[in-house]
Amino acid sequence: MKTSIIAIANQKGGVGKTATSVNLASSYAHLKRKTLLIDCDYQGNATANFGLKKQSKYKNLSTALRVDLPLNEVILKTSNEYLDVIAGDMGLSKLSREKILEPGSYNLLKNWLDCESIKEYEIIIIDTHPSLDLLFQMSMTAAHYYLVPVFAEADPFDGLQYMLEEVSLIKKSLNPPLFLLGIVITKYNTKNATHRKFHEYLQKYMDEVKITLLKTVIPESTAIASSSGAQRALISHHPKLPVTQAYLELAHELLPELRGVRQGRRQGTPTISEMPEEIDKLFDFEVQELEEEAVL
Ligand SMILES: Nc1ncnc2c1ncn2[C@@H]1O[C@H](COP(=O)(O)OP(=O)(O)OP(=O)(O)O)[C@@H](O)[C@H]1O
Ligand SMILES: [Mg+2]
Repeated sequence: MKTSIIAIANQKGGVGKTATSVNLASSYAHLKRKTLLIDCDYQGNATANFGLKKQSKYKNLSTALRVDLPLNEVILKTSNEYLDVIAGDMGLSKLSREKILEPGSYNLLKNWLDCESIKEYEIIIIDTHPSLDLLFQMSMTAAHYYLVPVFAEADPFDGLQYMLEEVSLIKKSLNPPLFLLGIVITKYNTKNATHRKFHEYLQKYMDEVKITLLKTVIPESTAIASSSGAQRALISHHPKLPVTQAYLELAHELLPELRGVRQGRRQGTPTISEMPEEIDKLFDFEVQELEEEAVL
């Protein structure tokens, strides 16, 4: 089976990376696509979301990478037979500090995932850490695709340019097939005028730079926090809610793009390195405008 590895990435903290990782993985599992969620963040939020914190003490990503344990020895099962998890734990923080200076450290996760048991999975989702440290670099080196969640407000764009520059370097030197699936707006409130304006402006800008702004928009919902508190996936806790359905839609929207390792880029997609300056210019100007309007 061809395995597609998707990193959910944005160096900005608290923009819905974990919510997207957990709910996208659960949606694929719901669609009976064998899915593995890798929690590559020492905060372990995705792990906690499935109530796997206790088990992660013995089976976790940092131990697996440190002593090169086989994948199937660290897999944690969930209540859905189609969804397995590799837990994130505090040891990842130490590991990333220790390994950063070692040659080849970027390839740590990629090399570890280069094994037979990976073929069992159709989709692998990596929840990444909000920084550009080794955990981020490892995740982006291991991934075939990445997806960038943003909240529908101005400030989540802080630092996006640096992340895109970093991704561009990783693409050039280590992982040329890495493919941007697009930007997905999360925590969106249709009644909020700033959110609507932001959506409109983002659509215009992304069209200009030929980056996909995904059609699916994830609505704001208190169910995200409540289901994570209840340690249950939205799809089993609140199957009918618009936010649950939106994550299912997102899973469907991305599916046609997922074909394992992808050689070359889609025609018309700019190289990431062309973007930062443009983002800067446009964002400085338009974000200011948005903020002024929001105050009025
Ligand atoms: N669609 C949504 N509606 C309402 N709240 C949301 C939504 N998505 C995420 N949240 C909330 O926003 C907060 C941040 O979300 P999340 O933990 O997914 O972000 P993150 O990018 O993974 O954060 P970090 O960078 O710290 O890992 C959480 O409290 C979460 O419950
Ligand atoms: Mg997170």
